Amino acid sequence: MSKLYIPVLAGTTREKRRSIYAARLVAEVGNTFDEIQTEVIDPIDYTFPGDGKDPENKDPKYTEKTAKAQGFFIVTPEYNHSIPGSLKRMLDSELTNYRHKPVAFGGVSSGPWGGVRAIEQLAIIVRNMGLVSTSKDIQFPRINELFDDKGVLQNEDFIQYIHKAWIELIWMSKVLKAGRDNESSNNI
Ligand SMILES: Cc1cc2nc3c(=O)[nH]c(=O)nc-3n(C[C@H](O)[C@H](O)[C@H](O)COP(=O)(O)O)c2cc1C
Repeated sequence: MSKLYIPVLAGTTREKRRSIYAARLVAEVGNTFDEIQTEVIDPIDYTFPGDGKDPENKDPKYTEKTAKAQGFFIVTPEYNHSIPGSLKRMLDSELTNYRHKPVAFGGVSSGPWGGVRAIEQLAIIVRNMGLVSTSKDIQFPRINELFDDKGVLQNEDFIQYIHKAWIELIWMSKVLKAGRDNESSNNI
């Protein structure tokens, strides 16, 4: 059976971003599961000229990856109690490629709350895209201490948290894939 492709979407292009360490770790743990293949989709590598999902404002590379994805794991920092504009812009560039697919969330902050407010906002946004969110979020609080300056994790407990989040996301990915493959589209 071919592997499910479930990419990790990174949330920001900020030059000194720390959340990329969390996103990379989530992908690393994801690739320990035999049944999936993952990678980080980094908004820094994509170009979205204008707002919206008109053809001229899409990046074909992102379209291709979201079309083949069976689910998504979004790892985002919290900026002013919400998600960064670069993540919103990237998400807004597609719509039908998300429909009836699952999404898990990881939140990042330098403070104690690990991006919970960004995740709460994001849950509302993705619902409108037809994505179905899992309930097993991961919080990465105090990101400056959680990873050292080379991006090495300082608290191994997080491997287990990430592992559990993947188990739920993979289950949801299989179930929703079976639904998409076996039920005719309701076209609403
Ligand atoms: C524009 C901006 C807004 C921020 N707003 C919040 C916030 O609302 N809540 C919070 O806990 N941290 C906030 N922070 C601090 C971030 O948690 C911290 O910079 C963290 O490292 C973000 O991830 P990044 O390094 O990948 O950008 C903000 C940081 C930036 C750059």
